[in-house]
Amino acid sequence: MAGKKEEARDNGRGVVISNHWPGYDLDLFTYPQHYYEDLNYVLIPHGVIVDRIERLAKDIMNDIGYSDIMVLCVLKGGYKFCADLVEHLKNISRNSDTFISMKVDFIRLKSYQNDQSMGDMQIIGGDDLSQLAGKNVLIVEDVVGTGRTMKSLLDKIEKYKPNMIKVASLLVKRTPRNNSFRPDYTGFEIPDLFVVGYALDYNEYFRDLNHICVISEQGKAKYRV
Ligand code: IMP
Ligand code: MG
Repeated sequence: MAGKKEEARDNGRGVVISNHWPGYDLDLFTYPQHYYEDLNYVLIPHGVIVDRIERLAKDIMNDIGYSDIMVLCVLKGGYKFCADLVEHLKNISRNSDTFISMKVDFIRLKSYQNDQSMGDMQIIGGDDLSQLAGKNVLIVEDVVGTGRTMKSLLDKIEKYKPNMIKVASLLVKRTPRNNSFRPDYTGFEIPDLFVVGYALDYNEYFRDLNHICVISEQGKAKYRV
């Protein structure tokens, strides 16, 4: 119906990719040939990722577009998602009467070695978080697995007394190890698989891959540290 508001009907889960989803054969797409045999299949093609982010940007604008936002990008895995999300937010803002003032800041954490969560979150870099006091903060993260990384980051950021904190995660894994943390905005809910590409890495490899793919056993062995 014309003029009807499009409400997301996903219960906050985003695009749900089932455990039976076979993905796409790699050779139906282009990918860096040095990863030949290091990947099993394409879980989410690049174009679908970007289309979904466009909708997330719209949802975010509808919810918090009236206020100034401090976008806090969690590096390195979040950089592609953050860049594309900010681009869409800017486009919406430019083409509507809703005015949004955005600042972008970067933070670096590390919790994974090989494909295992290390428990303790290390902060490798980042700005002076005291600048977040009184701000509306949008944390932009690549993937929530156990949720531990995001919980400890939120605990740290809350101490700086921002006015509001929202979390956007491109991916959320369906895993029994999740401590029930749910982002405010989710791109895709995926099976409990280790995925790479679109800036998500395995020991720093695969960030130069456009699609989100499932790594093969051979790939894990080859790039293990
Ligand atoms: P969590 O603490 O288990 O939720 O893990 C979150 C962090 O681990 C994310 O910010 C990622 O950087 C990393 N991570 C978790 N799963 C994956 C994956 O499948 N591929 C790449 N990185 C991952
Ligand atoms: Mg991350």
